[in-house]
Amino acid sequence: MSDQTTGVAPDGETNVPHPTDEAGISVAVEAALAAIEAASDLNELKEARLSHTGEKSALSLANRQIGKLDKSEKAVAGKLVGSARGRVNKALSARTVVLEEAEAARILVEETVDVTAAPRRRSVGARHPLSVLQDRVSDIFVGMGWEIAEGPEVESEWFNFDALNFKPDHPAREMQDTFFIEPADAHLVLRTHTSPVQVRSMLQREVPVYVLCPGRTFRTDELDATHTPVFHQFEGLAVDKGLTMADLRGTLEHFARQMFGEEAQIRLRPAYFPFTEPSAELDIWHPGAKGGPRWIEWGGCGMINPNVLRAAGIDPEEYSGFAFGMGIERTLMFRNDVPDMHDMIEGDIRFSQHFGMEI
Ligand code: FA5
Ligand code: MG
Repeated sequence: MSDQTTGVAPDGETNVPHPTDEAGISVAVEAALAAIEAASDLNELKEARLSHTGEKSALSLANRQIGKLDKSEKAVAGKLVGSARGRVNKALSARTVVLEEAEAARILVEETVDVTAAPRRRSVGARHPLSVLQDRVSDIFVGMGWEIAEGPEVESEWFNFDALNFKPDHPAREMQDTFFIEPADAHLVLRTHTSPVQVRSMLQREVPVYVLCPGRTFRTDELDATHTPVFHQFEGLAVDKGLTMADLRGTLEHFARQMFGEEAQIRLRPAYFPFTEPSAELDIWHPGAKGGPRWIEWGGCGMINPNVLRAAGIDPEEYSGFAFGMGIERTLMFRNDVPDMHDMIEGDIRFSQHFGMEI
């Protein structure tokens, strides 16, 4: 109790004026009013209230001493300290109103919900036009009763070349520039075409066979307007009794019309592939070609070479077959007038959006 009578607060920091000391009380009031005015938000105001009106504040401690005073002093002190505390409390209330209003206004601004703002859409991604086209090709053949076949992208040289009648020293083996997989004695390549799936399908299935194999293929070609080192082909294979070049042509014509419309025209030009005999290059009439309407190579085709049928365990005396292989990128070029293959592989979503993709 002695600390209070000597005017030192329990924490030793506050200078407690005597309750009849007008000047001392006034200093305490001014300090309180200054702190209240300086408070810039409700938290700071709470601190000012605790230190200037709390139990250990100068005014509270002075107030507590009044009880111990003489009767003559009590009235004076009571009036002095009472009015001092009244002023401080009034200032606190006034400042509380001001700061509460400021706080409410701040929240209104900061937490405003702009109901007219455009929602931020999250992109979920979409399929690439090449994938969509690949499905469309598959659908057309499935619609004719064909099955979809698959084969590996890392392929054995035997399936990619040997079984397709490319002789070991045949220049045709170099016809397609090949990515070989190390070590060389593993005899693995990145498949240069989808034709190895012809042999895989004939080995895996019973005749008759009608399959379509879409897939990724690889060549050491430079990227330019009509070539890319990684591209896609779809391979068609039919093996049955009595199939002829007329069946091949009819199938391709039907497919071309499904793909490009009733007015689509195809042309077969004599060509050479080791795995077909006779072989043909398949051209499509492209009325919208850059530089004017013209025939453009779409793929290769032909009647399956008897050596390939034999490699797959099928008797060429009893069965015959035809095959074809086309590029999917080329198909997209003709179908949608894409002048440059760069656009297909660069991954700019504006290219896909142009096809109506929602991304
Ligand atoms: C072949 O790949 C043969 N396997 C096609 C075949 C299948 C013939 C069945 C007979 C029987 P070619 O190398 O011409 O043939 O390629 C076929 C098509 O693939 C080309 O017409 C073209 O459309 C596409 N193509 C080839 N190289 C590329 C490339 N680098 N970029 C994009 N498309 C390509
Ligand atoms: Mg070719």
